[in-house]
Amino acid sequence: MNAKQEWINKGYADEPIDPSLDIKAEIQRLKIEKNAVILAHYYQKGEIQEIADYVGDSLALAQWAAKSTADILVMCGVHFMGETAKILCPEKKVLVPDMNAGCSLADSCPSDSFEKFVKAHPGYTVISYVNTTAAVKSLTDVVVTSGNAKQIVASFPEDEKIIFGPDKNLGSYINKVTGRNMLLWNGACHVHEQFSLDKLKALKAEYPNALVLAHPECKKEILDQADIVGSTAALLKGAKQSSKSSFIVVTEAGILHEMRKQCPEKTFIPLPPEGNGHACNECNFMRLNTLEKLYNCLKYEYPFIEVDAKIAAEAVKPIHRMLEISERLGL
Ligand code: 13P
Ligand code: SF4
Repeated sequence: MNAKQEWINKGYADEPIDPSLDIKAEIQRLKIEKNAVILAHYYQKGEIQEIADYVGDSLALAQWAAKSTADILVMCGVHFMGETAKILCPEKKVLVPDMNAGCSLADSCPSDSFEKFVKAHPGYTVISYVNTTAAVKSLTDVVVTSGNAKQIVASFPEDEKIIFGPDKNLGSYINKVTGRNMLLWNGACHVHEQFSLDKLKALKAEYPNALVLAHPECKKEILDQADIVGSTAALLKGAKQSSKSSFIVVTEAGILHEMRKQCPEKTFIPLPPEGNGHACNECNFMRLNTLEKLYNCLKYEYPFIEVDAKIAAEAVKPIHRMLEISERLGL
């Protein structure tokens, strides 16, 4: 088997790296040489966030990709983030360090089943969370992220009939805060579904003055206990602006890196998942990306995202619509 076939089978460029190589310096050099930018999500390992040109939530990553003048975008996140960037910038090469970095929430919404659901409800506007495949986006009227879902849903008339997919937790939270009654797809994220109410209550009892920050992909019983519910960027902003000094963080543990960096004087306590352990909740997909894979993907320009042209031509419309509404609303 040749090296290329091995990479395809593994989902990343698996070339041994000289241990004496200064990987961080090499990544910087390759970036300049190739006119590439590195975008990273807040859930990435700290070392990847540190080397990235931009670190943000899903909304910011899409906004930066849309505006970038680079030839190569390296998306350190999960597959749908790279796919969104590729749909927005078909002329650019969009690299992801590891093709296996999927998303359980996107997987909970297969496009053929979603298409049947949409067809069974004629007259409904389809709003999809960005954590979806390009095929699901191509069946969608407007894409949202956790950073703009509330405002975008609220921008529709109150009597608009809406299908919202795939996250039932985000969907029911948006129903609650906008007073809508959107029809929800029954999908969820395995990381955010794992948080336990008992552990949250115990941590609140231990830190009675701490503010609870929760991502809207968490279950209702968790969100009901939260002081701030929002996207990763919104939770970070909430922590920065708050006069409180301690925070219970109910989302993927990668966000702690930027929270601690931006607020070194404050204490951030991650809520562990259900079970006996005290480990932080980590997204196994996000954690597939490493500095070594980032280096190899920039060096060999592999793996890169490809999107079927017909699907991309449809999927770009609801993404553009999201970006336009977000810009109009100043998000
Ligand atoms: P954000 O939109 O807050 O970045 O969240 C993305 C995500 O995958 C949450 O699990
Ligand atoms: Fe997907 Fe959940 Fe991972 Fe976010 S944390 S990328 S929703 S699996």
